[in-house]
Amino acid sequence: MPNYVPEPFRIKMTEPIRLIPPAEREQAIQAAGYNVFALRAEDIYIDYLTDSGTGAMSQHQWAAMMAGDESYAGARSYYRLKEVMDAVFGFKYFVPTHQGRAAENILANLLVRPGMFVPSNMHFDTTEGNIRARGGRPTNLIRAEAYDPAARLDFKGNMDLAKLRAFIEEKGVENIPFGMITITNNAGGGQPVSMQNLREVAALYREYRIPFFIDACRFAENAYFIKLRETGYAQKAPLEIAQEMFSLADGATMSAKKDGIVNIGGFLAVNDEGLFERIRNELILREGFPTYGGLAGRDLDAMAVGFMEALEERYLEYRLAQTAYLGDSLLAAGIPIIEPPGAHAIYIDAKHLLEHIPQRELPGIALSVEIYKQGGIRAVELGTVAFGYIDPETGEEHLPELDLVRMAIPRRVYTQSHLDYTIATIKEIATRRKSLQGYKIVYQPRLMRHFTAKFQPL
Ligand code: F0G
Repeated sequence: MPNYVPEPFRIKMTEPIRLIPPAEREQAIQAAGYNVFALRAEDIYIDYLTDSGTGAMSQHQWAAMMAGDESYAGARSYYRLKEVMDAVFGFKYFVPTHQGRAAENILANLLVRPGMFVPSNMHFDTTEGNIRARGGRPTNLIRAEAYDPAARLDFKGNMDLAKLRAFIEEKGVENIPFGMITITNNAGGGQPVSMQNLREVAALYREYRIPFFIDACRFAENAYFIKLRETGYAQKAPLEIAQEMFSLADGATMSAKKDGIVNIGGFLAVNDEGLFERIRNELILREGFPTYGGLAGRDLDAMAVGFMEALEERYLEYRLAQTAYLGDSLLAAGIPIIEPPGAHAIYIDAKHLLEHIPQRELPGIALSVEIYKQGGIRAVELGTVAFGYIDPETGEEHLPELDLVRMAIPRRVYTQSHLDYTIATIKEIATRRKSLQGYKIVYQPRLMRHFTAKFQPL
């Protein structure tokens, strides 16, 4: 048998891509201020910038979109989505939002006050940004091994329970409006969280009466890891596992652009009726009426179908195997990545691969620039630029522990040969890694700097 799972679909619509010549790539990346976010998509051959909103919808999703009901209020599309929401997530109330950060924005706006703390295993950048924007302090309390890229653990996304308890005791319940956990842990390698950890985290939050929210972006992938790795779940369907995960929480934020396999969409779900009323009012002010929440009716239909497709076993088996194929091939070539491979992305350990470049000279940026120059491939730094920040109290620059370059794999988009091309490209760069140089920041905004910062080679 091959060491990969062949795509469980065939292609009936294609989108041309092309590799522009090296001199044009050089020019394009320079004009982009060496920030791959500023490249034109046309100039990219294979795009691993994100798995968010970049998936290929199925024929069933496209068919469902044709039946979208665009009524302003009470559309059939909303009720079709509600049926799936009830079946999979099971929260008492939900509102659609146009994407994940819209849900985070509403939650942070309603609950976070200056000086408050929001713990999680690891917040994603938009969640951090939304909490910081209200003067709050997002805090990561993941297990220590998560910071060791080579540590191979089944559930490397798990929260450190002792740290969480000590944190709550130290900061005080009154300063913690809610607690979170991100499944899978995108900021730390796409690593899953076990059901047992979810259960224990939920119990701890409940003990202190702190509402518990799951950042559910990649819930189906997390559910499948639980099926494969956690005792007692091998015989359960991903849907049942998902239901159990969400039964532990008081609410969830979700970007359906990931495990909803849609190009746009998300939701905010809660069990608390009073909070829901406030969410609804906030939604009407900023996003739209509660039965469409900033989306078209057809988008709600695509989401409803997508959530169920993301939970199909044959799809999940292929999805995890595809990512593992990329990761294991790089490892076999001696290229350090976060181990073991997660589900949606491979994260190259740029700090380690380019150890001759000090962290302040942005090894992740150096590597992402080189990957583009070498192969026309877009991969994104998730390291010093994405997660470093100036501490509001001390004014000092905080450097994150990891400096990574993420290759996020869009769902159902690229084939085995695209992955093989990628592996060959990275291997070629690794042979001449000592020739890569560092970068400095020449422009950065206050929040979420990695999207628009500009760099210069040193
Ligand atoms: N939470 C997590 C864990 C995410 O990965 C993202 C988005 C969000 C929240 C925000 O969702 O983009 O729909 O507003 N992650 C994308 C990524 C952007 O590339 O990892 P959004």
